[in-house]
Amino acid sequence: MSDLHIVVLAAGKGTRMNSAQPKVLHRVAGRPLIDHVLEKAQALAPRSTTVVVGHQAEALMQVLDGRPHLTFVVQEPQLGTAHALLTTESALAQARGTLVLLSGDVPLLSIKTLKTLVDRHTSTAAAATVVTAIVDDPTGYGRIVRTGSSAGEQIARIVEEKDATRAEHAIREINSGIYAFALEGLFEAVRRVASENVQREYYLPDLVAIYRQAGRTVETVIVSNPDEIRGINSRSELAAVSTIVRQEKATQLMDAGVTIEDPATAYIDGDVTVGADTILHPGVFLEGRTTIGSGCEIHSGVRIVDSQIGDRVTILNHCVITGSRVASGASVGPFAHLRSGSDIREGARVGNFVEMKKAVLGAGSKAGHLSYLGDATIGAKVNIGAGTITCNYDGAKKNQTVIGDGAFIGSDTQLIAPVTVGNGAYVGSGTTIREDVPDGSLAVSAGKQRNIEGWVDKKKGKK
Ligand code: UD1
Ligand code: CA
Repeated sequence: MSDLHIVVLAAGKGTRMNSAQPKVLHRVAGRPLIDHVLEKAQALAPRSTTVVVGHQAEALMQVLDGRPHLTFVVQEPQLGTAHALLTTESALAQARGTLVLLSGDVPLLSIKTLKTLVDRHTSTAAAATVVTAIVDDPTGYGRIVRTGSSAGEQIARIVEEKDATRAEHAIREINSGIYAFALEGLFEAVRRVASENVQREYYLPDLVAIYRQAGRTVETVIVSNPDEIRGINSRSELAAVSTIVRQEKATQLMDAGVTIEDPATAYIDGDVTVGADTILHPGVFLEGRTTIGSGCEIHSGVRIVDSQIGDRVTILNHCVITGSRVASGASVGPFAHLRSGSDIREGARVGNFVEMKKAVLGAGSKAGHLSYLGDATIGAKVNIGAGTITCNYDGAKKNQTVIGDGAFIGSDTQLIAPVTVGNGAYVGSGTTIREDVPDGSLAVSAGKQRNIEGWVDKKKGKK
């Protein structure tokens, strides 16, 4: 779209969040609120995007650092939404055409609505166009006051809840805080906004009355799904919006063939993909850039972050998997912990109370019980006995363990890295491996067993 500029307001304190961090950095579905808004903004292909920062500007700019095509303007002090827009005047001095104003705390707005807003605004040549919604509970929002009582009447002004009369409180059409403005004459008009209200703030919604009194056209776009324009001012609203986003994600996945036993407890971030015929049991967390193949079964209490899971993988209850890969046909858990860089190859099995980190478990290999496998490369068809530990840390640095294809590591083995166990080698139970084991050999380190007869009675002083 030509001659389109975007301003995102994000300078407010977010008092009602009671938080040490900026409101727009609180997360919905794993991403900061502001990212949801900026993503929608980019879909309009604007000529410029200006973010107004103020309260905790440093923290916010640090998080947004490196995002392309953003200009920051600092609003200090924060005297209200009209004052916030005014701070962008010099940044937009050369800008012509349309300005779309978004709120950093309204994350669910759809791209479709934004496009409708711009179309309506340009086709009617309005001075301002306001996105509104008709809701059951308008508490907390500015109310849309029209010249008459029917919805077809022109918008006259917007009144903030704190300044509204009893009759105005009953109005169920609310201001979303999202607008399109003609840039021509905009800043002159914004300068005319006064702060004569309960909060002593410069309210941007007052621009509506200013334009209407000047005889300029002000249009509205009423969204059909009011959830789209929910603003987040408190932790409760954050939770309510998160629930909506999660439900949408679960519905999308179910439509695409994923079974979700209890969608209300499926915590799946927006970027996660899941293949058809995968079954998600209640209480599963799939986060970040996670991909899950098809035909998998993921049991309750599993958390998977930034990981790639193949097809037909079973993940039993209460596993934590981060930054790892699990290939097709493998099975993991219950109670396994795959830390970053774990690479479970095809058909391999990781059992209960196994922790892995930067470790490959080759195709068809098994580590069934109670092990720590870190900084290790384990070949195919290897059996790792219960209680096997890679002693990868010598107090100064991490060292590698290599185990060849077909090796058999007996239970309670300690592998003091760096060390290599050859292909097909056997390690007896209870062995401490300090030296490399050649291919095909047996390694044992425990001495011959001694039985001392009568020792117990003697100790207890009996005859
Ligand atoms: C605002 C609208 C209200 C609307 C609601 C929709 C005003 C006066 N009221 O109310 O009509 O129904 O949004 O969600 O605009 N901000 C700044 N600088 C400031 C003040 C605010 O950048 O000086 C930013 C905030 O960070 C936030 C946005 O503007 O992103 C809205 O401010 P907020 O205080 O949340 O306004 P509401 O009371 O929600
Ligand atoms: Ca708000």
